[in-house]
Order: sequence, then structure tokens, then C-alpha cells
Amino acid sequence: MLVLGIETSCDETACAIVRDGREILSNVIYSQTELHTPFGGVFPELACRKHVDTLIPIIEASLKQAGVTAEAIDLIAVARGPGLIGALLIGLNAAKALSLAWEIPYVGVNHVEAHLYAAMMPLAQVTLPALGLVISGGHTFMVKMHELGNYTLLGTTQDDAIGEAFDKVAAMLGLPYPGGPAIEALAKQGDPTRFRFRAGRVKDAPWDFSFSGLKTNVLYAVKGQSSSKHSPLKIREEEKADVAAAFQKTALQDVVQKSLAAARAWDCQSIFVGGGVSNNNYLRELFEEQRQGVTVHFPPRLLTLDNAAMIAGLGYHLYRKRSAGDPFTLEPLTRIPLDSPKI
Ligand code: KG4
Ligand code: ZN
Repeated sequence: MLVLGIETSCDETACAIVRDGREILSNVIYSQTELHTPFGGVFPELACRKHVDTLIPIIEASLKQAGVTAEAIDLIAVARGPGLIGALLIGLNAAKALSLAWEIPYVGVNHVEAHLYAAMMPLAQVTLPALGLVISGGHTFMVKMHELGNYTLLGTTQDDAIGEAFDKVAAMLGLPYPGGPAIEALAKQGDPTRFRFRAGRVKDAPWDFSFSGLKTNVLYAVKGQSSSKHSPLKIREEEKADVAAAFQKTALQDVVQKSLAAARAWDCQSIFVGGGVSNNNYLRELFEEQRQGVTVHFPPRLLTLDNAAMIAGLGYHLYRKRSAGDPFTLEPLTRIPLDSPKI
């Protein structure tokens, strides 16, 4: 079955063609990063306008790269949420229009569930239950995955998502958006022991995350106690790398330790990691050092950031399970709890 996937939930416009949930024939991603860099984060109205301009050419490019015509497509899968409402609407409406025009069904897919599916795509056989860990710019949570579509939420962030913390700390250090790759690169030259930061322990919620205290630790180190966004830096230029290294280590250790402890506590032999922060090589090293028999699966590099291959892949399974597409009344959602009954 050939599935055309569409992803427009945030600042990537993407389209992919995937056969039977696994074989990626094309995976075209147009990243709007440059457009948003001057604002230090995603500017929703601009994101929406760019999706309108680019989505049709991206769909055409994706079909061309896959070497297939529209007639060969059996199903359309689209990110229905969570994400920016206006941005989601553009992808969803395109999916509905193509479904009508091509006379094929379409399904709305949960974007964060697709991030977890990305780590399963290369595997011929997936053994569940497993722990699912999503670490992205918009989300940080852990679920026990019983089967595709059936999850129990174990812990989530009480404040910022981890990727958001990387982006904000990068901004404090004068690094460009998105901050994750910039922090990772700078941290390589730094000494992680020169500054002492703490990641949030959440009272009575051992599996939850909190990164706002860590962010404040960094702000005080960089600008002093009575700091504001516009205060001058208190540290020397060469100390920025030490701050980046200490922040990265503290944030990632927290995620690695909690998820490995949760995997053991909830009888999971493996962890599937998804979301943009899973791109981080230091994170992968920490897991490797500490996993002690737990298998940790990461998405292939091209599927770590927002992409439509993961949407098409998951959409295939959703459709096979239900044997029906979604109605044209389906609406986008800015939030979708992963452990709620199926969307
Ligand atoms: O999954 P994604 O593309 O978008 C969301 O669904 O949120 O993730 C983007 C996030 C950004 O916050 C970015 O800074 C972070 O992933 N990120 C990284 C790295 N690459 C991207 N964080 C840490 N290290 C990286 N190498
Ligand atoms: Zn995402």
C-alpha cells in the first residue's frame, strides 16, 4: 500500500511517500528555520503563510522523487495535531482536498505518536511493551507502549519541553535558533563540571520532568541574580562553552536516568526515543553508557526532526487497523493526549 504523508504541524513543510509503513520512497522536507531565526523561535502567522506557498510544490517534488504518479497512491496520512492550529489546518485541508480529488481515503495522525513510530520504521519486528520517550521542541513525555495506538502516560513536563530549554539557553548565550545543534556543538569545547546546575525533581511525581529551574540556574550563571533578558553577560566569552556543556549534561542526564529507571520499573526491555532532541550525539552516548541491557532505539537521522515519512508510516497502521478513513468533518487539534482513546 502506497501512502502519501503530509506534515505541517509547526515550521517544517513536508511530504513523503512510504510503502507498507516502512519503505521510504521519498521524504521531502522544507525547513522554515531561516525564516524564523530573526525572531528566536517560530512565528506562527509566518509559518502558516509559508506552508500555503510551499505545500503543493513539496507534494509534487515528493511524488517525483518517489517516481510515482498520483494514481498510484492508496491513502493519504496527515498530521492532525498536536501543533500550531493554523499550520495544521493547511496540511489537513490539503489532505482532504486530495482525498476528494483522487478518490482515496485519508487519515489524521497524531504527530507525537509518529515521532515514536519513527524509531520503529527501520525494524522488521517490533517487540512491545516498550517505553516511549518523546523529546522535542514542543513535547517531553514518557509512555508505556502496549501496542500501536495503546499507551499509558507515565510522565510529562510540568513546564518547558526539553528542546525549548535548549532553544532558550542558546538564546541566553547568543547562539542562533534552533538552539539544540548550536549548544551541542559549543558544549564539545566546554568543561561540564565548571558550573553546577540541577534539573527539576518534581515532588510526588517521580516520572515527570521540569526544566524551568534549570533554565533559571543558567540565567543566573550567565547574567547574575538580578538578571533580565537584556542584562549584559556576567561570564567571559570562553566560559560560554562550559555553560553549554553543563546545561546539556544536566538536561540530558535527567532524561536518560528517568527513562531508564522508568523502563525497569514498568517492565520494558526497550525504549523508543523520538523528537528533535534525539538527534543529539551526547544523548546517544549517555544512553549507551548507562542502558545495562535495555535496548534503546533512535530514529534514523532523517526522521529525527519533523518529517512526513513518520506520518505516512503510522497512517498506514492506523488505516489497516480501522479499515476506514476519516470523515471530512475531522478537525485539527493543538493538543492530543496520547493515552486518550484513539483520535
Ligand atoms: O521534533 P522537532 O523537529 O519539533 C517538534 O515537534 O518540536 O524538534 C525540534 C527541537 C528544537 O527545540 C531543537 O533545538 C531540538 O529539537 N534539537 C536538538 C538537537 N537538534 C534539534 N536538541 C539538542 N541537540 C540537538 N542536536
Ligand atoms: Zn515534532
